[in-house]
Amino acid sequence: MNTNVKNELLKRLFEAKGEPVSGQEFAEQFGLSRTAIWKYIKEFEEDGYEIASIRKKGYVLISSPDRVNSANIQKHLGTSSYGRTIDYYESVQSTQIIAHDAAQAEAADGTLIVAEEQTAGKGRLSRPWSSTANKGIWMSLIIRPSLMPQQAPQMTLVSAVAIVRAIEELTQLEATIKWPNDIMINGKKMTGILTELQSDPDRVKAIIIGIGMNVNQGEDDFPDELKPIATSLKMATGEHIDRAKLIAGILNYLELYTKMYEKHGFGPIKLLWEGYSNTAGKRVRAVMLNETIEGTALGISEEGLLELRLDDGSVRGIYSADIVL
Ligand code: BTN
Repeated sequence: MNTNVKNELLKRLFEAKGEPVSGQEFAEQFGLSRTAIWKYIKEFEEDGYEIASIRKKGYVLISSPDRVNSANIQKHLGTSSYGRTIDYYESVQSTQIIAHDAAQAEAADGTLIVAEEQTAGKGRLSRPWSSTANKGIWMSLIIRPSLMPQQAPQMTLVSAVAIVRAIEELTQLEATIKWPNDIMINGKKMTGILTELQSDPDRVKAIIIGIGMNVNQGEDDFPDELKPIATSLKMATGEHIDRAKLIAGILNYLELYTKMYEKHGFGPIKLLWEGYSNTAGKRVRAVMLNETIEGTALGISEEGLLELRLDDGSVRGIYSADIVL
């Protein structure tokens, strides 16, 4: 089966916005038989698309299922490279693992790995990441920006800003960022970001940005231990969210902000980030591997460290910690 032609056919059906797409013309353009096109249409129907076949006119897309496949994402995309290549899976262990292998095999800048379900999703510090089928966004983006390896951790903060902007645009909800990698709504976590690096000593080869978002889960979709601390966009808005559109929104902002970071450094992103931070000015506890400290969160440094003013008046930059408010 030729996946590209199949994707193109689905894209045409979407773009026709309810008008018929001629199977004959499409078949001729791609050097295929009309039966081959008909087989693709049947496969779309098996995937949950509703397609009407109109005599002498062609195929009309009536409705599409709630899927995060490439056609559903790409119709909302305004990027030049992010999301222009999408590897879509029904179920995988972890999109992050697939993305690492793809990056090593020279996948292009902006390649997106996305799945409906992860059976072994991983979070920061190798913690498990719950990834219910068809309800969330489980994706890993491979990017190859012109950055030094020491600038890579800031991509977590760049991504966080892109995500809250995309959420705001689609739902009008004001999500906040909890340093370093959590997006919060009403004090509960709805998104986690896992940024990993493939690098030479002096040059970033690839950054893999893993994003896990709770989108259409209800409370019952979360395991008991997560119920008190996790939330979803649907729980916050009361509405079902178009996941593919949200993915496209994130990619649009992420490409914009990554370019901004490459060109102008971290300053503009830092300003945006601090506007969304839920810790600024608050007393917090930073739980690190070997110690726990308390202080007042000031903001973030140019290197993306969280700056805490301790009780003795000194200021300390934190590289990695769980922050308790
Ligand atoms: C965290 O908050 O600990 C980060 C969670 C990151 C989860 C995402 S889901 C898509 C990608 N694949 C994974 O296995 N993990 C990341």
